[in-house]
Amino acid sequence: MAVINWGVDFYTGLHEVDCQHQKLFALVNRLSAVPGDDPVALDEAFRELSDYAKEHFTLEERMMEEAGIDAEHFSYHKNAHALFIRKLTELWEARNDASANTTEKMLGFLTTWILQHILHTDRRMALEVHDKLGTNAPHNMFTHF
Ligand SMILES: [Fe+2]
Repeated sequence: MAVINWGVDFYTGLHEVDCQHQKLFALVNRLSAVPGDDPVALDEAFRELSDYAKEHFTLEERMMEEAGIDAEHFSYHKNAHALFIRKLTELWEARNDASANTTEKMLGFLTTWILQHILHTDRRMALEVHDKLGTNAPHNMFTHF
């Protein structure tokens, strides 16, 4: 069962960003579907997700830089990405700690963070990028601020 579902509320109108967000959702769902007693598959699914998240953040950061958006947002957004990677790595490294259900914890963190980040931070970025580039923001961009 999917733990995270993409929908129009997450739409930014930035084609590459939207495609990558959908792939990120698919990778989180893939990770959630790996049986807890299969460490090799778990490791592979985690690494694929983590590598893809880094690649995706690089794209967003390059896009913000090229569009020349507000420096305060850029710095906040970049920092949010770095904190996410740090926290995800911490949760992953704690996976052998028998006292914690780390996969469940990690999925909880992943789903909450990704949903909130897209709805608030990425869509804020998208509004500014559209504004700078003179392109149209999708009609639903304001519903969650
Ligand atoms: Fe972002």
